Amino acid sequence: MPKHNLKNALQHPVFNTISKATSNLQLESYVIGGFVRDYILKRGDAKDIDIVAVGSGIALAEEVSNLLPAKPKVSVFKNYGTAMLKTAGVELEFVGARKESYTEDSRNPAVENGTLEDDQNRRDFTINALAISVNDATFGDLLDPFDGLKDIENKIIRTPLDPDITYSDDPLRMMRAIRFASQLDFTIEKESLEAITKNADRIKIISKERIVDELHKILASEIPSKGFGLLHKTGLLPFILPELIALQGIDEKDGQRHKDNFWHTLEVVDNISQMTNDLWLRWAALLHDIGKAPTKRFDKKIGWTFHGHEFVGSKMVYKLFKRLKMPLNEKMKFVQKMVLMSSRPIVLASEVTDSAVRRLVFDAGENVEDLMTLCEADITTKNPKKFKKYHNNFQLVRDKIVEVEERDHVRNFQPPVSGEEIMKTFDLKPSREIGLIKDAIKEAILEGEIPNEYEAAKVFMLKKGKSLGLKEGSK
Ligand code: CTP
Repeated sequence: MPKHNLKNALQHPVFNTISKATSNLQLESYVIGGFVRDYILKRGDAKDIDIVAVGSGIALAEEVSNLLPAKPKVSVFKNYGTAMLKTAGVELEFVGARKESYTEDSRNPAVENGTLEDDQNRRDFTINALAISVNDATFGDLLDPFDGLKDIENKIIRTPLDPDITYSDDPLRMMRAIRFASQLDFTIEKESLEAITKNADRIKIISKERIVDELHKILASEIPSKGFGLLHKTGLLPFILPELIALQGIDEKDGQRHKDNFWHTLEVVDNISQMTNDLWLRWAALLHDIGKAPTKRFDKKIGWTFHGHEFVGSKMVYKLFKRLKMPLNEKMKFVQKMVLMSSRPIVLASEVTDSAVRRLVFDAGENVEDLMTLCEADITTKNPKKFKKYHNNFQLVRDKIVEVEERDHVRNFQPPVSGEEIMKTFDLKPSREIGLIKDAIKEAILEGEIPNEYEAAKVFMLKKGKSLGLKEGSK
């Protein structure tokens, strides 16, 4: 193997400090993992740097801190034999080189001290097992016992050991393989893919949080369908997102077919990923049709229907987030809202009236642009004429949204006449009538009967009060 020196990767001054600390303690140390991989891939300087010491990682971390003028705090995780410190914009994690053996039912391995090569062996992929020496005499030398460099060049995900062992040892790696394939546009080598398929059900022992971390990274990649397609192909998806699997397949009855909503969904996710990096909008695209499985019906007259799937889907979002231990906060509510409203602009695209647009803006509020983005991504027709027509119509809707919003300001609607003023005007105590009048004013504005202005709304209020048999008070 030709010798490579990657000194240039070690330009951050902290590497000199680590080198010095390593000499002081008469150890060996190497930078390993994502930092090396991303340097070779030119993905920019990683801020997380993993250092493996042949000896005590904790002692090395303490010595590094000692040598630094600021003496940064060292966080020690005794159980794992690791230590962490932050300095000059980077986070260093130190670990002693180890040999590991895993048990059947847990990701927590039995650990013993080992050589650098033992440590490289236990890593997930050849591209993550590359190490660069930080030792004085060999500073910058690349140690690549498994041809990781070649795998980077050929864009291959491969395990250092028999893949069956690597994945079974730590099933999270099955998700990581697929995530890297999607994120870096790499191919998973055949034996690995087979091992993942074989071990898919072992994903059950992995915590939901870690699975979701990987899902986020797959969704954040340029073409997420690559990752989701692999999750499907390897049989991992049913354990993670069965709601998506339920969308798969095409039924035919009386010569009528519906589209395969699973593959359609993946197309929508790819489309939206061209338009936005917003992770939660991408989640909305992924889940926008999940209500279609439980609502699917066949009607002899109209064919296949998915009546109410948006509402059912938005309810399913909550259960899905809860099951995956995802946050049940405003992000989840945003995804629910997008799913619930996902068909609204489509109806509009055939006839764009002012009042319908005003209602859309009123209901979607500050999320109206996101909703339009989702709906445009949802256009997956292969008929070029239809494709053009739908996009043109959505452009009309977008223009109209701007026009209507400039005039009527319904996006963050504030009633132009307050409940208090209604009470005063008609000398009312809190009562049902106030709500009725407020609602009528809002409806009149949305329908375009009156502009969203105080004077017009006040005249309307007086008329409405009268029709309810109310009299203006003396005050
Ligand atoms: N690693 C592993 N098995 C895992 C997780 C991590 O073997 N399940 C090893 C790999 O060598 C990896 C290193 O630990 O490169 C650091 O892991 P981590 O920081 O989680 O990931 P990175 O590879 O750095 O990638 P990213 O930052 O993109 O997650």
